[in-house]
Formats: sequence, C-alpha cells, structure tokens
Amino acid sequence: MGPLCDFTVALLLLAFALSTCLCINNSSNREARLVRSVYAFQNKSTQHERLVNNNYNPAKTSKNSVETKKVHPESSNEADISRDSKCTMAPESRFNCARDRVLSQGECEERGCCYAPLPDSAGPPWCFYPSLYPGYNMGPLSPTPRGQEATLTRATPSHLPGDISTLHLDVIQETAGCFHLTLKDPSAQRYEVNLPAGVPQTEADTKEALYTTEYQSDPFGFIVRRKSNGRVIMNTTVAPLLFADQYLQLSTALTSPLVSGLGEHYTSLLLDLNWTSLTLWNKDMAPHADANLYGSHPFFIVQEEDGSAHGVFLLNSNAVEVMLQPSPALTWVALGGIFDLYVFLGPDAPSVIRQYLQVIGYPMMPPYWSLGFHLCRWGYTTSKTTRRVAQRMHDAKFPMDVQWNDLDYADKRRVFTFDPWRFGDLPQMVDEFHKKGMKYILILDPGISSSSPPGTYSPFDDGLKRDVFIKNATGQVLIGKVWPGPTAFPDFTNPETRSWWEDCIRDFHSKVPVDGLWIDMNEPASFVQGSVDGCPDSDLENPPYTPRVVGGQLNTGTLCMSAQQNLSTHYNLHNMYGLTEAFATHRALLKVRGKRPFVLSRSSFPGIGRFSGVWTGDVMSDWEQLRYSIPAVLQFSLFGVPLVGADICGFEGNTTEELCVRWMQLGAFYPFMRNHNDRPNAPQEPFIFGQKAQAAMRSVLNLRYSLLPFLYTLFHHAHTSAETVARPLFMEFPTDPNCQSIDRQFLWGSSLLISPVLEQGAVELAAYLPPATWYSLHNGQPFYSKGQYLLLPAPLDTINVHVREGHIIPQQEPALTTAASRRNSFYLTVALTAGGWAHGDLFWDDGESLDTFETGNYCYLVFIAGQSQVVSDPLRLTGALDGLVLGGLQVFGVPSPPLYVLANGDKVRDFTYRSDTKVLIVTGLDLPMSKVFTVQWAL
Ligand code: NOJ
Repeated sequence: MGPLCDFTVALLLLAFALSTCLCINNSSNREARLVRSVYAFQNKSTQHERLVNNNYNPAKTSKNSVETKKVHPESSNEADISRDSKCTMAPESRFNCARDRVLSQGECEERGCCYAPLPDSAGPPWCFYPSLYPGYNMGPLSPTPRGQEATLTRATPSHLPGDISTLHLDVIQETAGCFHLTLKDPSAQRYEVNLPAGVPQTEADTKEALYTTEYQSDPFGFIVRRKSNGRVIMNTTVAPLLFADQYLQLSTALTSPLVSGLGEHYTSLLLDLNWTSLTLWNKDMAPHADANLYGSHPFFIVQEEDGSAHGVFLLNSNAVEVMLQPSPALTWVALGGIFDLYVFLGPDAPSVIRQYLQVIGYPMMPPYWSLGFHLCRWGYTTSKTTRRVAQRMHDAKFPMDVQWNDLDYADKRRVFTFDPWRFGDLPQMVDEFHKKGMKYILILDPGISSSSPPGTYSPFDDGLKRDVFIKNATGQVLIGKVWPGPTAFPDFTNPETRSWWEDCIRDFHSKVPVDGLWIDMNEPASFVQGSVDGCPDSDLENPPYTPRVVGGQLNTGTLCMSAQQNLSTHYNLHNMYGLTEAFATHRALLKVRGKRPFVLSRSSFPGIGRFSGVWTGDVMSDWEQLRYSIPAVLQFSLFGVPLVGADICGFEGNTTEELCVRWMQLGAFYPFMRNHNDRPNAPQEPFIFGQKAQAAMRSVLNLRYSLLPFLYTLFHHAHTSAETVARPLFMEFPTDPNCQSIDRQFLWGSSLLISPVLEQGAVELAAYLPPATWYSLHNGQPFYSKGQYLLLPAPLDTINVHVREGHIIPQQEPALTTAASRRNSFYLTVALTAGGWAHGDLFWDDGESLDTFETGNYCYLVFIAGQSQVVSDPLRLTGALDGLVLGGLQVFGVPSPPLYVLANGDKVRDFTYRSDTKVLIVTGLDLPMSKVFTVQWAL
C-alpha cells in the first residue's frame, strides 16, 4: 500500500523548524541525556487547568475541528485549512499528541498537531495527531528466510529527545497463527528481553497463515487482518510510530472493546476503555484501583464480535504504559528496549493463550501436595505456635497439606538463618510435619542483610566474595533497606548469583528441609528510594517521560534505575527481577531436592508460570477484594500462571466470620489455596470460628480435596497443552454475549462452574448458567438452561458448583492430607447429556517426581459414558495407580430407575436412584483403576 495522503511535508518541516530545543536535539547518544524537568505526566487536572486558563467557553465549541477553528480564529491561513481537514475526527478517535507534557495550543500546533478543547477535561485529548502525521518512511520490503524486512527512516525529527531516525523492521510468520514483528535500531545494540533459557520454540508449522498484512509506507504503519473474514485485527496507521531512546510509542485501532489482560492491576476481567491508562511497573503495592501492582504482563486478549479472539504481546521489560480509548483503540508506550510484538490469531481464545504460551513457555507441573490447603500467617512467632496451629487444624479435622512461616522464623529477619530462641527446633518441627504427611514452606526475601559483622552472616560474606550483588552506577554494591535493615540485592541475571543462591538454599535445606519457597518482596521492594545513598541525577532515574506510577518515580520503593546488573541496567531489567529470582529458586530447589519444585512469587513477568505460582499480594479483608480476586485469578490464567490465588480471608485488616467462610468457599476453587494473615489482625484460621462456620469451611475443604484428581489433571493439560485451569466463561462459551464479561463466576476446565457468594449477608445468588444442562455437584439436581440467570439458594454452608452435561469428573475420597487422600478410593461424577453421553480423563503419577510426563512415568485414563454404561480406557499405565480402586460413581441425568447395576459384569448391590433428581449412586465398588472397568445400569 502506498502513502495514503497528500500531506504537505513542507508545511510540517516549517512547523518543526519552529519547535523547541527538545524537538531538534536528535542526539546520537542513545542514553538520552536531554532535558527532563519540563516533562511531566499530563493528568486530568492539568488539562483542567488549561481549560480554565484559556477562558474556555464550551458554548463556542463542538466536538469537531471545524468548530475548533472558531475557537482559534488566528489559525485561518492555508496551512491551518490543510491541518483542519486532517483534524476532523470523532473525539473518541483522537490520539494524544501531548502525552509527554502539557502543551499550549501554540506548542501543540508547533508539533503539527491539532488543538481542539472539549467540555470534558477527562476524556479525549485536546491536542491530538492529525491523520497521516509524518513519522517514519518505510523503504522497500525484501524477503527474508522467514518473512520480510525493511528500513524505516524518519525525515523530520519527532518532538522527543533521542530520536532514533533509522529503524530495522523484521516481520516473521512464526506459525500460522502467530505474526511477529520487531523494530530495532540497526546502528546500536539496545536492550532486548531474552526470556530465561529453555522456553519451548514456537511450533514450526506449515499451515497457511490465518492472517494477511498490509504496510503503509509513508508514514509507516501496518494492518493485520484475519484472513477468514477480512476483519482488521490491528491497524497502526491510526497514529504515528515514535521511537526515541527512552520513549517508544505505537497505537492501534482495536476490533472490539472486549479487552482483557495488561496486568497486574485491580480491574474487572474486561478493561475499561474510557480513556484509561494502565502502567506496567512492578511495585510493592497492596491491590487497589488505578495503581501499578506487583507484576507486569504486556499481553492482552480481545474477544471479537463473532466469538473468535486474538491476542497481542509486547515483549518488553521496560516501564510500559498502555492507554485505552473507546474508539476502541490502544497505545503502547515503552520507556526503552525495542518493539518486539506478537499477534496471535487464535482463532479462538484457548488457541490465543496456547500461541502466547508457545512464546513465553508452558506452565510447570506443580507437585500434587501443593494443590492442598496451605496455612500461613505473619505472626506465628515461635515454632511452638506454628506447631500448635497445625495441630489444631488436624484436631478439628480440617484437611491441610502445608504449614508456612513468614519472616518470624528468621534470626533478625535475615534469610537463610533461623531464630535460635524462638525457632531453635525448626528442623525438628519440619521433620514432625513430614512424619504426619505434611509439607513445610517458609518465606525468602531477596534482600540480603549487609550490616552483620563480617564473618557472621555467610550469605552476605560469600555473596560479596562471589560478586553476586547489584551494583550502583559507580560500581559499589547497592544497599537498600528491607525488613532486616540495610540489604544488598542479588543480581539473578548473573549465572554466578544463581549458583551462589543454590548454595545458600542447599546449605539451609540441609538444616531445614523445606518443601518449597515463598519468594516475596521481589519487585524488588525497598523501603528507601533507590538506595540508602540515593541515586545519581540521570535520565535513567528521571526519564524524559515517566508514566503515572505509584510514588511518582520509577525508583520509588525500589532500586536506582542506574543500578548495574549483569545483563543491563536495572532500568531495563526491573520488571524481570521476580522472574529471574523465580527461575533461580526453581532451579535451586530442583537440584537440591531432586523433586518437582514449588515456588510462590509475588512479582511476575511473562514466563514466570514455568517456574512458579503467584499470589495476589496484600489484599484487604473486605467484600470488594473478595469479589475482585476472581478477575485477578482469571487474568493470571491468561498470563500462563495457572497456580494462583489470593490470601483467603484477606491479609490486611480484620476479617469477619461470614467473610472468611465465603472466602474459604471461593478459595477452595482458587487453583492455589492459602489462608494468610497479617500480624496485627484478628486470627482467621478455620478453627477459631464458631461451629457453623467451621462446618462450612470443613465441608468446602473436603469438597476441594475430593476434586484434587480432577484439578491435578487440569494442571497436566495446562503443563502439556497450555490449557487454562481457572477459566473465564467467555473461553468456553465464546458466542454467548452474556459470558463476555462474567467475572463473578468462573470455570474449572470446561466442566465445573463455580458461583460463589460475594456479598455480605447474601443467602441466595443470581448465577448465570450458559446454554446447557448443568447439574448441581452437591446433589445432581439438573438445570436446563437456555442461557439464563437463575436465583440459587446459597446459605452460609453452600457454594454453588455445577457440572456441565457431557463431562465426567474424577474424584477421590478426601482425607486430612493429600498423602492420605491419594491412597483413597476414586469415584466418578458422570454428568450425562440428554442423549446419555459423557467423557472425562485422569492424569496420575507419583505427584512429585520430575518430568513424569516427559519421561512417560505416568498413567492416563479416559472415561466414556454412553448407552447406560461407563467405561474406563487406560491409555497409559505405569505403577502409579497400582492398588488404587474405583469405589463408586454418581451418574446425573439417568432418566429412569435402573433395574440392576453391573460392575465388570457382576451384579452390584449397593446402588440408589432418586427419581426426583434422576441421580444414580453406586457405592461399594472395588475396581482396580489400573485395569479397564465397565459399570452398566440396565434401564
Ligand atoms: C509482604 C507480603 O506481601 C506479605 O504476604 C508478607 O506477610 C509480608 N511481606 C511479610 O513478609
């Protein structure tokens, strides 16, 4: 495609010649050492101030630029007429030309942009790009072995310092559904993200691409279309590409307003496109609205109008800001690195996630025990208290697999030590837990105390010797401040640091045989800005443009941006700190324990699901945070982190009995289930509540434990096929408009629908049941839904869970630990279609050995129901199922009472049938799981 316009370049050259020193300083120095103080985040109030200063009169303007002319009569020369014709656009289609700082009308027009105030200062920008604003000019596209390449040149400088005026464009068809585009500086190496080694290659495939591309050469832009229907998936011709040293910008029109992702933020599943902006900058920040939180995931998925979906991923670890506007459209801004952009064409949502995970890596297979219940608190101040808590859980018959300790265990809060007085018998305590079939996890912060007398704290002494710590700009170890006081921060991008970390873990594990590690404060968080000595005054610390971040500056509550790591500056690597620590910790645990590692991280970045689970940080004990924990969990599913959960009953503030019961009920369906509490709060362990509340909690814990074979099988599919575990409804019912936005309910896999109570005092709930027959998991009662909301009873002891017709759920009798439950009898819940069919599967191994799937050391069974029978088909068998039996089954949707039931041909005595619910329950079976079995019912 050729140039789309007859834009008069000369006029613009004139406009740019008049521009400020900022515009003409096109330094070849890629570290951009230019003016910074004049830049500020243009927030709503500044626009409002302008509105007042300009004596703005709403009556004199309207929403288009023709009217704008009236407001600025002085712009009635030829150039302005030309500009005005390019300024005619609906306000929601405006792309902000003054994102970097507040511009007066004159300054805006000097940039060659349009200026048209509006009555509402919070919405569309007043200074915006005209159509076909000059940017880069693309030379001829030439073929490469895997795609095409071209050179882009900028004839006129942008308004940004450090413009990179020549770019290399490389486009690659990774797979039929994955379009990959990079834009780099051909003359200087810039920082590029390299995800930790071992990311599976994108699948080579020879299928025909699902998309077509078009390029606009002047100004450069591209369009990606879905080939099947011509729908425009991306169109970056809507606004100019900017590429300066510390400011990269690319806008695109969106095909639909149904956008999810771009975490980590406190949002609904569908993002608000009404002129919102999301900053991706990892931050120690308790979840609340309009704030950058612990993780960064520059990936989003869009639901298209016909139910197809696509996704976009910007592989960039610099601070990123994403502006969303209602046209609908989106603008990426990154403060460094390169444009490394992937577009995933699906065509359905599950395929989009698989294509994304082919780039960032499929999630790890968690140990079986880690799907059990975890109990934690900051404030179990002694080993005695810790033991007592675990014992009380056991005595009150609450299933629980893992006892945790927070920082309380550590001597002077220094990691890799334990307090000799309060936790002197920590090793024995862990042994005792192990003897009871339980596991033990403790916290590990990255900050290494730097103030112990030399020779008394080897992690620091050895770390210094081995040169593992992050340095400041002048080459000394950077000292920040965290819980133990002054601390140094390991540089996990350095291979030597990873082996030192492994040595620390090995040494500690030889004394305290922990089963997993909880890596906290790894944004990294620091209680001083940058370092105890401050930070140098540089463009890295104060970039020309800083997106809105909590605390105002990039280095607030973390390290200096100019700090030096092995791979690059902290400015470039900050968002990857948690990922690199998770990688190092996973690897160390793997080597030290020789078993499947368990790591839980607070900070996250694409690819972390390969090494770690994530929890959603310091949530408040309130109803709103309970409710928003669902979209938080679902978004991590989309980010390839299936092992995720929020702190049950809330971390900050006092919980209440009712809230805690409801949270335990919802939490029983978080893929990762942990109750965790902060020091000053009222206790919230299940056993401290009244009998009714305890009964409700016990019942839902037993329900979870009974479902663990199913949950584990879902994790197997996540690990091997990139399927989601906790799943938004839109992924299963993509053409049902009611499902597009639902985030108060969710699915496990494709078959279990979870509808928790999220409001105080509620004892019933309006739950949406997509079109299908759904059976209550509790009693098999069927609901024949045409796709409707139903008012369901939800007394305090109940969480509504429904099984979708056509599915078989493998379950097991619960027990107080998974070590025990894994030996119990299995049973099947069979949810028949009207035609009497259903299917399901079971993945089973020893639950903790490494790479069991990869080495073939596992069992895999499918179950098929039809023609009044259920048959198992063991597709793969090893010894893992030996000695385990099917003890029974419940079949939902059996139309009439069976005359008899046969198991492997033998008559069964123990069965019941309820005509009202049409449920057949068969008990007392003893069929080996490792052999084919058949259970028939004669109608
Ligand atoms: C912050 C974590 O988010 C929280 O879970 C933990 O209890 C405290 N740090 C203390 O370690």
